[in-house]
Amino acid sequence: MKVVLVTGANRGIGLEVVRQLASQGMQVVLGARDPLKGEAAAQPLIQAGLSVFPHQLDVTDQDSIDRLRAEVAAQFGRLDILVNNAAILYDTWQQATTADLKVVHTGLETNLFGAWRMCQAYVPLLRGSGWTMSSSRPLASSSVSREQRVALSPQITRAFTSASRPDPSAATGRPASWNIWA
Ligand SMILES: NC(=O)c1ccc[n+]([C@@H]2O[C@H](COP(=O)([O-])OP(=O)(O)OC[C@H]3O[C@@H](n4cnc5c(N)ncnc54)[C@H](OP(=O)(O)O)[C@@H]3O)[C@@H](O)[C@H]2O)c1
Repeated sequence: MKVVLVTGANRGIGLEVVRQLASQGMQVVLGARDPLKGEAAAQPLIQAGLSVFPHQLDVTDQDSIDRLRAEVAAQFGRLDILVNNAAILYDTWQQATTADLKVVHTGLETNLFGAWRMCQAYVPLLRGSGWTMSSSRPLASSSVSREQRVALSPQITRAFTSASRPDPSAATGRPASWNIWA
């Protein structure tokens, strides 16, 4: 049974990803920064017979990331897929030249560094067979131009692709790290 971890999974796209992957027979770890919201989101799925394991996870908090990694290692021994979904502050109202950098910084702490921290922490559990996926816009901020995002995101993606899998495209024709932000 494949083991999947989805961040920011107590609602929205993350929760739907959990539902669909668990419905395909996968063991899904549902990460939620508020454990009560995570539990509430997971319960209907668990009662429907799906293998869903809710756990507190704040991607801006290294201790929280490390606690869950220890739990995943103890419970399942590995991770097959990491879905970096958690994100905040889609500050599309801002212009690069006048942006409130506090807002930008707060957004990047979750949307960029959160996903980055997750990759650093979980690549050792993914190594050999794992995949990382990102549904978040890692550089989501109007202060970062689309051209910069397009240029930077593949660099980050490539770094974790090569770290998590030695020859990702040879066997499957697909990259080991998918980035589906637009
Ligand atoms: N919706 C779209 O049209 C669209 C389009 C393209 C890409 N995306 C991407 O898809 C992803 C999900 O979108 P969505 O519309 O489902 O977003 P959403 O409804 O705003 O949900 C975001 C989720 O991320 C969680 N989260 C926020 N900060 C977190 C943190 N520090 N640690 C852990 N979890 C955190 C939220 O938890 P709380 O409930 O505690 O706030 C929530 O569960 C995002 O990455 C977004 O950029 C969305």
